[in-house]
This record gives sequence, structure tokens and C-alpha cells, in this order.
Amino acid sequence: MSKIKVLTVFGTRPEAIKMAPLVKELENAQESFESVVCVTAQHRQMLDQVLNLFNINPDYDLNIMKDNQNLWTLTSDVLLKMKEVYESCNPDIVLVHGDTTTSMAAALSAFYAKIPVGHVEAGLRTFDKYYPFPEEINRVFADAVCTYHFAPTDTSCENLIKSAIPKEHIYKTGNTVIDALLYTVENHKADLSGLHLDKNLKTILLTSHRRENFGEPIRNICKAVLELVKNNPQIQFVYPVHLNPNVQKPVYELLDGHPRIHLIEPLEYAPFATLMKESDIILSDSGGVQEEAPSLGKPVLVLRTTTERPEAVKHGTVKLVGTDKDVIVKEVQNLLNNPDEYKKMSEAINPYGDGLACKRIVDILRKEFNK
Ligand code: UD1
Ligand code: UDP
Repeated sequence: MSKIKVLTVFGTRPEAIKMAPLVKELENAQESFESVVCVTAQHRQMLDQVLNLFNINPDYDLNIMKDNQNLWTLTSDVLLKMKEVYESCNPDIVLVHGDTTTSMAAALSAFYAKIPVGHVEAGLRTFDKYYPFPEEINRVFADAVCTYHFAPTDTSCENLIKSAIPKEHIYKTGNTVIDALLYTVENHKADLSGLHLDKNLKTILLTSHRRENFGEPIRNICKAVLELVKNNPQIQFVYPVHLNPNVQKPVYELLDGHPRIHLIEPLEYAPFATLMKESDIILSDSGGVQEEAPSLGKPVLVLRTTTERPEAVKHGTVKLVGTDKDVIVKEVQNLLNNPDEYKKMSEAINPYGDGLACKRIVDILRKEFNK
């Protein structure tokens, strides 16, 4: 029987983290699969960090990132350049991930080429087209053109059914992020001494990058950080600052130079996972961090008003706090002052997966293509 040729496409840090274990699983099943990898490099440095960690050498690298890029050029670059990749590679199936512009445009480009597409992390929704922007519409588009929908949870399966996706094309697999996290925590314990954190202080980890938070919201987040360090000599913040200039500029302007606020470059995944484990509280607007932190038993205060990941919110380990300065200060202070509240939020739970999502996806592909 001939091998199934699978082209995995990704471009940003979170897609790379969540697709890397799947690429590895396909490589390990080489009796059935020919695995080909294409990176758009929508992110350059933050993508390369992940490719190095997982030892992935892409077969195609479109190298599209431009400084402070916009959605129009990003979309058209991916759409057009993927046409050439599909013509040269001629895969049996294309796999894309989640909700980035790389994923949406690569899926659309494959649809135009009449190549079936599998969507990993399908079915996440807020049902508000502007939150998160443009991710909500990116994932709706990707789901609409894909044939195979690998949904992480019951909620994401239900969302796909509500979106009129045929039931027989929906597979509940768990989220591959847990595969990536468990592999990394087990195999790559990182040394954080280079961060020069004070072991006697409580550590609050902060990340932010959402487009909805550019401008006033991100400045409010920074002001909350300043107020919290002023009122709490027992805490320190560590903030790996996303390379987007819309984040770098206000964050360095407002927070640089404080001895208990450590502004650092984006961390490689292994040290970041270790840092999550060693932090006391996490403040973030990231999607991936909302999925990873609960399994490490870390409370997450989400700097957004909606989430497409309601599972850990329902369980109480993740709380939506938005970007109002006073609300952020109040919620962090509550966790610092109230041990019962902290304990309630720091129970380890794993609604997003069991570390076997990639294996399930590979088994499903084998079955579907050998029918
Ligand atoms: C993108 C995704 C978002 C995802 C996020 C994860 C879209 C529209 N946005 O947002 O869904 O949550 O990645 O981080 O798909 N940059 C660098 N080096 C890098 C990465 C980024 O310099 O390695 C800078 C560049 O100036 C680039 C800018 O950041 O133009 C913005 O990158 P872009 O991918 O367009 O947006 P993100 O905010 O990273
Ligand atoms: N991450 C990382 N280094 C960092 C910050 C985050 O490796 O300095 C990881 C994090 O563990 C998660 C992913 O990057 O797996 C999330 O990426 P991001 O927040 O950029 O995107 P989102 O998940 O919001 O799309």
C-alpha cells in the first residue's frame, strides 16, 4: 500500500508548539506516512525557537514575516505561496492548526487546490467575531473548508455541530498542547538561574500579545503591575515580552528599569514551561497558557473578557479579569492575601487532554485513508 503523504503547515510559535508532537508522531509512523513540513514563518525568531527544541527541519520555509506586518499582506502572501507548495508537494492531506492567519489562508489555499484539510484544535469559539480578532473568524473559516475536524474537548465538538459540521467528520482527540507540555516538562527541565529571580519573593508570570489589548488596555495592564509591585514588597513580576512592536513599545516605556519587574525576551518553550511551574500566579491573554497552566496547578487570571476555552473557567482555576487596572489589582491582591482563594484556584486539572492527542489523530488518519 502506498504511504499517505501528509503536509503539516504552521507559522507562529503556538502552532509550532502544538504541531511539533504531531510531526514527530507522523515521523514515527513512517511505515504508513510520508511526513512533509511547511512553515510560513509568520513568526521568525519565535518559530525557530520551537523548531530547534523539537529538532524539526522544514521541507518548505516561506519566510514571510515582515516587521509590524498587517493582516492583508500576511493573508495574501500565505494564500499565494501555499499554492506553489501544494503544486510542488501534491499531498494527500494538509494539516493546519487553530486560528492564526497562516492556518486560515493555508486551509483556504488547499481548498482552492481541492486538497482535503484536517483542522487540529477545531471548534473553539467565543461566537463574537471581534473577540479575539481576527482569530474567531480565522477558525470559523478554517472549520468551514476543512474535512477532518480534530476537536480538543466536548465543548469544541458541540460548537462544530452548532456550525453544521457533519458529526462523522468530528473527532474528539484532546489538545496536542498537553502532548507538547508533558514531553517538554519530562525531557527538557530548564535552568532558570539566568533570569536572576529572587527565590524569597513570590513570582507572578505575565504574558500578553492580543490585538484587542493594543493601546490603552496594555497600558492599563502595565499600570496594574506598577501598582502591585509598589504595594507588595514580597512579589516580583517576570514578563517575557512578545516581539510584536505594538507590545514591546508600551511595555518597555512603562515597565523598564524596576528591580522587581523582569522584562525578558520571549523564552524558549522548555524554560517557559519550567517558569510556569515555578510561578505562583499567572496573568495572561494567551490561549496556550490558559490550557497549560491548569495542568501545572497554577492559577491564571486572563486579561480578556471572553474566552474560547471555557473548561478551566468552569472548573475555577482560570478567571477572566479583563484589562481594567483596578480589577487586575484587586484580583491579584485577593490571591496574594487569601490562601483559601489561592488554594481553590491552584488545583491541578486537565480538561484539555491526556498527552495522547497526536496518537489519536495519526490513528484516525490511518483509518480514514485506508478505507
Ligand atoms: C500571531 C497570531 C495570533 C497568535 C499569536 C501568537 C494572526 C493574525 N495572529 O499574532 O493569533 O495568538 O501570533 O503569538 O495570525 N515578530 C517578530 N518575531 C517573531 C514574531 C513576531 O519580530 O518571531 C513581530 C514582527 O514585527 C511581526 C509582529 O511581531 O510583524 C506581529 O506578528 P503577527 O504574527 O502578525 O502577529 P502576532 O501578534 O504575533
Ligand atoms: N510561550 C513560550 N515562551 C514565552 C511565552 C509563551 O514558549 O516566552 C509558549 C506558551 O507556553 C504557549 C505558547 O507559547 O505554549 C503560547 O503562545 P502565544 O501566547 O504567543 O499564543 P496564543 O496561544 O495566545 O495563540
